[in-house]
Amino acid sequence: MPQAPTRAFNSLVTSGWNRLARVYNAPLVQRVAYQPPQDEIIDQLRRAGIRRIADVGCGTGILASRIQRELVPEVVYGCDASIGMLQQAKARSAEVDWINRQAEDLGLPDGAVDAVVSTHAFHFFDHAAALAEFHRILAPGGLLAIVLNNPRSRFARLLQPQPIQSVAYFPSPAQMRLLVEDAGFLVTEQRPVRRPIPAILVPDVLTIARRVD
Ligand SMILES: C[S@@+](CC[C@H](N)C(=O)[O-])C[C@H]1O[C@@H](n2cnc3c(N)ncnc32)[C@H](O)[C@@H]1O
Repeated sequence: MPQAPTRAFNSLVTSGWNRLARVYNAPLVQRVAYQPPQDEIIDQLRRAGIRRIADVGCGTGILASRIQRELVPEVVYGCDASIGMLQQAKARSAEVDWINRQAEDLGLPDGAVDAVVSTHAFHFFDHAAALAEFHRILAPGGLLAIVLNNPRSRFARLLQPQPIQSVAYFPSPAQMRLLVEDAGFLVTEQRPVRRPIPAILVPDVLTIARRVD
């Protein structure tokens, strides 16, 4: 079977996350950086009444297991390419379906979910291949919600000097809109994530879209 394209050095990136998995759950890291986008995504899923969800690049599984606990949906898939991150995730919940797969080739059936969500991971994916895969596994009209750093901010720019861009690339909000719409989605909302600290410190953007074809 042909391999789905992935960003250069992605296997190095995901094996790096195997080592970072242990510090990743530190309460301060979680509270400041990762929890606000998760709150926003849970709110979107709740308001849309969504029952089948895939969290792609789920890391240690905090969002996927919160979705399971707080929304009690029909099914939640937590998908990540790093086995180290998934080991932490599996310890967190036995009710989430944890999947050790690449975002670009998730191995789920066509139309398997009504929402694909992804927080702070999309910059590692091959954007076009991952969006095509999200489109394939989403039912028509399905919801896509992606959070990633805004590279227009001063801090985020430091994260991606030229040599890093083959490993991780943060599309700007305008580029993100184009990528998502080119993949067969309609962007319905795009704005900064609401946080208890100044946005300049963690300048991330939420993009919400619906599968239109
Ligand atoms: C910064 S962590 C974010 C984890 C989680 N979404 C969160 O917000 O806490 C990024 C995750 O993306 C995963 N990742 C990187 N490239 C991937 C790929 N091509 N397919 C699936 N997961 C990938 C890494 O293994 C890592 O667990």
